[in-house]
Order: sequence, then C-alpha cells, then structure tokens
Amino acid sequence: MELTREEEAVLRGEGGPRKQECMKILVTLGEMYGARKLLPIYSVQLSGISYKTMGSAGTEFLEEMAQEVKFAVPTTINPAGYDVGGPGLVRTSDDFRSKQDRIVKALMTMGAVPTFTCTPYTTDFAPPKGAHLAWAESSAVIYANSVLGAYSNREGAPSALASAVLGKTPDHGLHRQEGRRAQVVVDVDVSKGPIRYTVLGAYLGKLLGRKIPYFRGVRPDLDGLKELGSSMSAWGAVPMMHVEGVTPEAHLQDVRGLERIQVDAGVVGEFQRCLGCDENPQLVAIGCPHCTKGELIQIAKAVKQKGRKLKPGTELWVCSNRQVIQETASAVEVLRQAGAKVIQDTCMVVAPLSDQFPVAAVNSAKASFYMNKKAFSGQKIVFDTTENLIEKYL
Ligand code: F3S
Repeated sequence: MELTREEEAVLRGEGGPRKQECMKILVTLGEMYGARKLLPIYSVQLSGISYKTMGSAGTEFLEEMAQEVKFAVPTTINPAGYDVGGPGLVRTSDDFRSKQDRIVKALMTMGAVPTFTCTPYTTDFAPPKGAHLAWAESSAVIYANSVLGAYSNREGAPSALASAVLGKTPDHGLHRQEGRRAQVVVDVDVSKGPIRYTVLGAYLGKLLGRKIPYFRGVRPDLDGLKELGSSMSAWGAVPMMHVEGVTPEAHLQDVRGLERIQVDAGVVGEFQRCLGCDENPQLVAIGCPHCTKGELIQIAKAVKQKGRKLKPGTELWVCSNRQVIQETASAVEVLRQAGAKVIQDTCMVVAPLSDQFPVAAVNSAKASFYMNKKAFSGQKIVFDTTENLIEKYL
C-alpha cells in the first residue's frame, strides 16, 4: 500500500503504541484485500458494545485504549446491554450494569457519540451521499450503501475501532465502484400474495451469502428497505442491494447475463415457518433494527385502535433510539399508556434477557436469528407481523 508520510510515521510508532496497532490493523487488511491507499472517512459506527458481546477481555482492551487515544472522526455506537441513559426499564444484574458502564465510560472518554443505536442514519449523524464510512453494524452498512449512497465495507469491531482512532479506512471493496456491482438478479413475483420484506431478506441472505442482489418486482419504502437489508445481512453477509427504480445506484447496473433467482410468496411463506414456534411469549419485542419515526407512529396507531392495555404477564418492548423517541413524543405516550415499554439505548438481542423471557415474540427475522441462536440468547421465538403481535398479546 502507498502510505502518506504521516501514515508511515504512525506505522513506525511515532504516534504511540495504540495508534501504531490501529495502523497495523488497517494496513494488514488493506494489503489482504488489495487496497492501494487509505481513505479519509466521514464517520464510524461501532457495534458489539454490549458487555454481552464484548466480555471482559474486550472491556479491558477498550479501557487501555481509552487511556491513550481519542477518536478522530464522529463515532456513533450500537445499543448497549441495558438502557444506560433511560429510565431503567431493562432489568439486569448490578454486576452486568457495572461492567457495561465501564465499556460506556471508555467509549465516552475516547469521544464516542452516545447514540446507542443500530440506526445512526435516523439521527443527526446520518452521512451524506458519497461519504466514505467505516461502519460495523451490518444492518446500517447495507442501508448506508444501498439507500443513502454512502460507501462502507462491513467492518469488524477491531477494524472499525482502528478507523475511529485514525479517521481512515483501506480503499477496497464497497469503497470502489467495481465492488458495488450487482452480482445476481432477484425477480420477486408478488402475484401470488404479498411478501414480508424481513422474511424475504432472511430467505435470500441464506442463498446469497456475500453477493449483491438486484431486485425486480418490488418497490419497498425506506422502512421496507431497512427490513429487507437487515435480515439479508444477518442471515447472510450481503453488504449492498440494488432495487430497480428505488435505490440510487440501481440505474447504473448492467444486469445482462447475471445469475437469476426467482422468488414468490409460496417459497418465502414456506421458509417463514422456520423462523418461530407456537408457544406463549413473556416478551413481545418490536424494533430490530431500532424503529424509525414512521414505524413508531404506526405501532402507536395500531395500539390505540386496539384500545386496551397489555395483557398481564407479557411485556411489550418497542425499541428505538433517543432522538426518534424524543421526536415522536405523543406516539410514545400512547404506547406508555397502554403499558408498553419504549426502550432506548439497548435492544432485545444485546440485552441479557434469556432468563427473564425464555420465549419471546418478534416481528423481525434478524431478531429471530440471533435470539434463537444457542450461543447467543437461546430463546424460543414466536414470529409474526407487528399487527398480529399487537392483536394477540395486547
Ligand atoms: Fe439493532 Fe439490536 Fe437488531 S442492535 S439490528 S435492534 S439486533
């Protein structure tokens, strides 16, 4: 890789050992993927900041970093393991809280922005079109690339952290036009019935792996794109999608001769059966990824129409971020009056909930994927639409 004089100096250790480590990470990755240089970036999104995912070794590493370095660019962060700045709606042990607090303190010392959300694009920190990013939250990466027209690879925790410290990322993959090309055409046939985007994304994520799809036959709105992308990137590792007539780079694609997949309501409906079981949930959790303003208002409307309070023995969580919650105050009040918990700063996946709620109901295929995983939460999952969950459990 060709490094600038300043970058060479950091690599030699002239900026201190921590910056040197960060530079080594970026240069190693860059060389592995054939990058010629490092690019300046607009922002970083750090994921895995819950103590549930980070553990003690990661916490200590972060604390050591915080003694030496600051973030060089705006660095927004994913949900924590409990509602760190909220009214204390999420029950966790004191031990877990104090460990989580150490992570938050280290991140704040380095200059992180306390967004605590996987949807930084719904906050004041949304990047402009064409911005280069080093984001690590897979659902935000696919949204940024596909919908916002920004450029980010799917970063891991170490590379995103290194980029936050140095304000750079290696110029390869999704940062280059050739890395953003459609690789497979997905023809969606909705003539046999409607298809839920979250389920379609899960089904295709398994099939596509890392391939970039070009969709025909559907026109999702922004919330639909969020659903589709988040489950494709959780069930697979899809970093970007193009949707004909919808996403900003779709018209640049030449799809002649590409592999073609056809899907319809039958095949997607069949797949949906593996997403959940038929048990009684103690928790109904909506908002994976965190609810947008439109989603939150929609949920409040459905709850208001239903016109009664939550059934005893079941909690209803609606997860979103601080800014969206503040900006939808009256919808939030409707939800609170009905007995729902409007949760900020954390989510149903990264909070340690499996002991309290062995069975949880969700509307998101991404949430189903992680909450059901034995190594992660090991919960039993009921999977249904938002409307049906409200109908059944409210
Ligand atoms: Fe966000 Fe948690 Fe889902 S971080 S994408 S709500 S798993």
